[in-house]
Amino acid sequence: MTETVFTRQPHLSPLSDAERAEILENPGFGDVFTDHMVSIDWTWDEDGGRWHDARVEPYGLLSLDPSAAVLHYGQEIFEGLKAYRHADGSVWTFRPEANAARLNRSAQRLALPELPEELFLDSLREIVAADRDWVPSGDGQSLYLRPFMFASEAFLGVRPAKQVRYMVIASPAGNYFGGELKPVSIWVSREYARAGRGGMGAAKTGGNYAASLLPQLQAAQQGADQVVFLDQYHDDSVEELGGMNVFFVFRDGRIVTPELTGTILEGVTRSSILQLARDMGLAVEERRITLAEWAEGVRSGEIAEVFACGTAAVVTPIGRLLDGDDVIESAGGTEVTLRIRRELLGIQTGAVEDRHGWLRRL
Ligand code: COI
Repeated sequence: MTETVFTRQPHLSPLSDAERAEILENPGFGDVFTDHMVSIDWTWDEDGGRWHDARVEPYGLLSLDPSAAVLHYGQEIFEGLKAYRHADGSVWTFRPEANAARLNRSAQRLALPELPEELFLDSLREIVAADRDWVPSGDGQSLYLRPFMFASEAFLGVRPAKQVRYMVIASPAGNYFGGELKPVSIWVSREYARAGRGGMGAAKTGGNYAASLLPQLQAAQQGADQVVFLDQYHDDSVEELGGMNVFFVFRDGRIVTPELTGTILEGVTRSSILQLARDMGLAVEERRITLAEWAEGVRSGEIAEVFACGTAAVVTPIGRLLDGDDVIESAGGTEVTLRIRRELLGIQTGAVEDRHGWLRRL
């Protein structure tokens, strides 16, 4: 347990119940933020540094020195997880310890300070306590929690910052891809990679997402929803999409996802799906899978379903692969994909027994 006490400064003019209800009717993804935010500062000292000044404040603009290291060298990491409202009104989150652990792995890679797990969990409890009314209860809806950490020290030398801020903001969320759930299309990036060996691919850091923006734009210009990155230096094996992992369901009952090589993000949803698939009796394989195997497997019917997954995307069927002029339509199956989606969402929302002990009450 940490000894950290959060000071709380409530919002003096939060949105009215009616305004909030209107937003929660159709929240979209990542456009609207709740009334409060959490901040904790870290300062380096001879003993290695300490976290201090934990606080809950009204959501608002930050005051940042123009030379703050994050603005120049991108020393930043983040997380994404969700708060779900159950039928009895209680609010729960899903495997937050896994996010705390991943935040600290990212922190190590970006030379940022680690945040004690209990402080991470406290920060989630604090934001949800302040903005509990913002947790939606509609089908497929949740409150997306975005913890992040950045170098706030003002200086231009290239070294790890000695002043850092950790924050949590929250945003009510519906379907990441907008509207009703429907199969999405994926465009193959042949020109750009997301991450290289020894790089930051396994870290959840803004730089990886910045690297995905241009290829993501190219994907959109080709009419696709997401980009897929390959390991083009080796064998064109599939890495991940712009902001989510990818799974293949084989006709013979196997389910395959790219193995973690250090260039792929270790998704919490990804690891949960691997467990749920085992529970369903599917044979699970984490291995390299090439683009050719994807395309040929879909064409021959050996691969029956392909889906994307992530905290934001949950489990979303992939219906079409665009590789240059080649358009590969999936077999159209979504049975296993939707079963996994129902099971995962069922556990998260309290409709299915939490047999793995993944939920934590907020
Ligand atoms: C998440 O799924 O939580 C992410 O961080 C990915 C981003 C595309 C929203």
